[in-house]
Parts: sequence; structure tokens; C-alpha cells
Amino acid sequence: METCFDGPDLGQRCRSGPKPRGRDLLITGIRQMATPVPGDGPLYGRDLSAIDLVSDAALLIRDGAIVFAGPEDDVLRATPDADGLESLDAGGRVAIPGLVDPHTHLVFEGLRTAEFEQRIQGRDYLEVLASGGGILSTVDKTRKAPPEKLYQNALGYARRMAAAGTTTVEVKSGYGLDTANEVKILEVVRRLGHEIDLEFVPTFMGAHAVPREFAGETERYVEYLLAEMLPSVAQRRLAEFCDVFCEKGVFTPDQSRRILSEALALGLRPKLHADELSSTGGAELAAELGAVSCDHLVSVSERGMDLLAGNRTVGVLLPGTSLFLGKTRPAPAREMISRGVPVSLATDFNPGTSPLLSMQLVMSLACSYLRMSPAEALSAATINAAYAVARGSSVGALAPGRRADIVITNAEDYREIAYFVGSNLAWATLKEGVVIAREGTPMF
Ligand code: NIG
Ligand code: FE
Repeated sequence: METCFDGPDLGQRCRSGPKPRGRDLLITGIRQMATPVPGDGPLYGRDLSAIDLVSDAALLIRDGAIVFAGPEDDVLRATPDADGLESLDAGGRVAIPGLVDPHTHLVFEGLRTAEFEQRIQGRDYLEVLASGGGILSTVDKTRKAPPEKLYQNALGYARRMAAAGTTTVEVKSGYGLDTANEVKILEVVRRLGHEIDLEFVPTFMGAHAVPREFAGETERYVEYLLAEMLPSVAQRRLAEFCDVFCEKGVFTPDQSRRILSEALALGLRPKLHADELSSTGGAELAAELGAVSCDHLVSVSERGMDLLAGNRTVGVLLPGTSLFLGKTRPAPAREMISRGVPVSLATDFNPGTSPLLSMQLVMSLACSYLRMSPAEALSAATINAAYAVARGSSVGALAPGRRADIVITNAEDYREIAYFVGSNLAWATLKEGVVIAREGTPMF
């Protein structure tokens, strides 16, 4: 898999495993096809809402890739062998690109329902972490869990994601916090990619918290991470990206810079959890490092927004996390969009701050809570989310040459996807032309 680390866009070559592909399929009966219009990078400003709507459309797929996407009459005219092709009648439904979830913590053991209840009663998230709970309690359980258990847990969640229309999922490690356990988690991610019909994008996040055995010695943990964990992960080619929780009381901007610079030197591209609970200059650091994405951004500064915009760093917004933490003030999406930040959306699926698996629900929250339009939410959950995981030229839009990752939804108009809050409208989810979920039932 050496080629995964070469190009600027990893989607073309970095296949997640030796799964059989090569399906030809003609999809007809699409009442409305709704897709962002790909440009030469992530979309920003007015382009975010300039989606393409085609009535009475069809999609022709050959070898798992889209060959034609447009009016049904045109597609049929250009396809002399249409009668001999396998076909799928969308039955007058809406087709959108497969949803891309560019920020999850999918592999872990144990839920945190007691902490959920404590936070409802007013306990602060970082206070729980500082007292040895939170992320660290998940680390205790994840370290003890055998790989097979972690695999089965993650598989169960991935099935629910696919049933809700997700076709590409970024997955961070970060509940191991030592070499053996971080490698264990990333090997589970690799196995998921080999065995099931979803694409998983692996990110090393050894700097998610300071483990108990290094309590009060963050510097010493950073040294250990740089000397041992990071080289082990890089040498095994287990991750494409490296992420750091840059936050007051966790890792400082300086420590984050050191970790991400070294990661970059080893071929792992930088991402950041930044400016979530307070403004720490994380967005500024993401721009300085040329990070692929900068995530959370609830407390991002004006300068940080301008630097992200200037650098075309994707700002990944996680409204489900703000909601689950009971925040009344989510990320300033409107201001980011007006300043030209290419914004995207993700679930942040994890047991502490976002047990949320559906990108459709995230799109609803983006509209009602972040005040994004349904068209902006669609672009943010597809093409821009693809850019946030360096797959912006291979997935995230319904256009010739792209992989046939498609969601056919039980809707007459694409805006219903965000409008029906909490409903799963996915009638069929297709990954590279293969149906992987039907009417809420995963096929793997
Ligand atoms: O993105 N902020 C840090 N990491 C996760 C939470 C992980 C956890 O609480 O287990 C997040 O919100
Ligand atoms: Fe996260």
C-alpha cells in the first residue's frame, strides 16, 4: 500500500482492500439528482450552495465508477447496450452522493452512559477527563479488549452508518495511548477496510489525551509518542493522517506543532482537533502546518478563520458534539462561510461527546443549529468532507470519473434529507455501484 502516501489525492489509488469490484449498473427513475459541482478544491462561499439539480435523471456505472450522470433520456441515448445492463429503478426517488464522514473515533470498547448522566447534572467534560475519567476510562477498557471484540464493535457501528447513507469513514485511533494498543486499533481499522464494503481512512491520534502512566508529565508523553509510537505507526503504514487534541489542559499548540511536523516528515498528513472548548490558536496552527482539515472550531478566532480560508484548509464542523455536550453556542458556521472557509460536516462519532452515527442527522443539525442551507449542508457532507480526507477528486459528487458512491433517498426533494430531523431516508446505499444497505438494512 505504499502508493497511499504519494499523491495529493489518495482516493484514486489507496483502495481499502482486495474487495471484488467491477459492477456495471444502470440506475433509472431518479426524480431528482442533487450533487455539488466539483471544482479544483474544496468548495467555499457561494459555490457551497451552487448544487446541480437534475430532474428525471439516470446514472450509468461501469466498473464501479460513474460514466454518465444526467437526464435519463440523454443517458439512454448514449448507452446502446442499456437493455443488456443490470438496472436499478430508483422509483422516483432522490439520488445524492454517498455521504462522507471525515471525523470519527469508531474503534473503542465500552459506553459512557454514567458520564452522560453526570454531565447532564452539570459536570464539566474537561473536569471529568482531568479526574481520570472521560477519554481515559475508554482507554482502560479499550486496552483490555481483544482485537476481535473491537472489530465486532466497530463493525456494528459501521453497519449503522452504511444504513444511514455513509460510504466513506475516517477513523482515528486514540483510545490506546501506547504503542501496542494504538497499533491494535489501527490494525482493526485496516481489517475493516479489507473485509467490508465501506472505505475507511485511518488517522493516528496518539495525542488524544495523556495516559494515566504519564499523568502530570505531558512533555514526557510527547517525547515517548515522538520516539516510539509515531515511528511504529508510520513504519507499518497504518495511518494516512495524524491528529492532535490541541486544547487547554490537553496538548499545547507548541506540542501539537512538534507532533504534527514530525508526522508530516514520516508521511502522515496533519489534522487538528482545535478551538473546541476554548480558543487556543489551533486554527492558526492548522493553517501554518498546511493541515488537510481543522476540526471543531467552536471558539475559532477571526484571524484563525481568515487563515483557514487563505490556506483552503477544510473546517470540519461537528454540531452533534455541541448538541450532545449541551452547548448553546455551536461553531460560527455562517461567519466561516462568509469569510471563505471551505466548511464540511462530520459526526465525531465517539462514546464521550458524540454517540451519533448518522450524517443525515448532522445535516439537519447543520441547518437548524448552524444555520447552513440544505444545499450547503449537502456540499459539506459530500464533496468537502471528501476533501477533508484527501479524496476530493474521487468521491463526494455524482459526476463522470468518480466512484459510484450513491444514496437513493425516500424523498421527492433533496431538502427533505435535512428537513425530516432524525429520520433515516436512505432507501439504498451504493458503494462503487454495489448496494451495501437497503431500506435501513446493511448487507454486510
Ligand atoms: O472529538 N475532543 C476530543 N476527542 C473527542 C472526544 C473523545 C471522548 O470523549 O472519548 C471529540 O470530541
Ligand atoms: Fe473528535
